[in-house]
Amino acid sequence: MTPSFDLDDFFARSLLTLSVTELDDDQRWSTWPETAHTLDRGPQPVPDWVVRHDGALDTELGILKSGKEADAFLIDRSLPPEQLTGAPGESSLMVAKRYRSPEHSTFHRSNAYTEGRRTKDSREARAIAKGTAFGKQAAASQWARTEFDVLSRLWSAGLPVPYPVQIVGTELLMEFIGTDDEHGATAAPRLQETRPGPAEIERWTEVIHDAVLRLGELGLVHGDLSPYNILLDPRPEVPTPVLIDVPQVLDLIANPNGPAFLRRDCTTMCTWLRANGAPPAATDPEDWVRECLESWEVR
Ligand SMILES: Nc1ncnc2c1ncn2[C@@H]1O[C@H](COP(=O)(O)OP(=O)(O)OP(=O)(O)O)[C@@H](O)[C@H]1O
Ligand SMILES: [Mg+2]
Repeated sequence: MTPSFDLDDFFARSLLTLSVTELDDDQRWSTWPETAHTLDRGPQPVPDWVVRHDGALDTELGILKSGKEADAFLIDRSLPPEQLTGAPGESSLMVAKRYRSPEHSTFHRSNAYTEGRRTKDSREARAIAKGTAFGKQAAASQWARTEFDVLSRLWSAGLPVPYPVQIVGTELLMEFIGTDDEHGATAAPRLQETRPGPAEIERWTEVIHDAVLRLGELGLVHGDLSPYNILLDPRPEVPTPVLIDVPQVLDLIANPNGPAFLRRDCTTMCTWLRANGAPPAATDPEDWVRECLESWEVR
């Protein structure tokens, strides 16, 4: 005798399953499983707060800032509430930086920064050069990929940058620099919004000077360093500067514009630090530039 099959029962059960997994408009399944390739995931050792469960949900909590080429969103990645035990890696906040596709972005600064960089895929390279829709989409993905790769490299080298969690297409997910407590999530302030006292400015000068030199040792220049692209991480006992916004990082030597961008970065930062009370002797941009170029040459 063949077992009887109750169609109504089958559909009732299917609907039950669907209703359990129903997502709100601002939710999606965690995109971590989409990043099976290790190159799409952040560097080892993966910090314990990174949520790696396939069954986690991503909830978009709102936009942090709309920028020239990308928008930054606050994302909560968590296991469903009934599965939370309080262990690390079950729930965390991240920033999704989404590079804007074609029409909404000008990408006007591309050329000076990318001289000396090559696109391996010649179909992509031709499309980008022609500015086709496919080319613009590919360009947006490349900016996201470049920012992800640079963050990975800098994080591995111990520079103060957010941990890059993953990259999927034009969306990069990274560590949220900020606090999350009973009052909700608060993003770290940009340096521009802070009012440092004498002790703070001396320490920040050291941290930023050190970061510029260490970039130089890696043969790199930030290229858009300013008090808008440095956050004051409030989590350590003594809040400390963290560099962000690195897709335009350029080669100090291979890129003919490298030294000019280095000089601009140093001038911008030294000017701001001095205006906020840093001693002039520690904030001479020409000293910073020279030290950087020397640290590269002695390698
Ligand atoms: N990891 C992070 N943690 C907390 N806030 C962040 C993080 N990354 C970015 N932000 C916030 O989002 C803003 C925009 O980020 P970012 O500078 O990387 O993007 P952008 O598109 O280049 O912006 P802009 O064009 O204004 O420079 C930052 O100024 C900061 O306030
Ligand atoms: Mg920025």
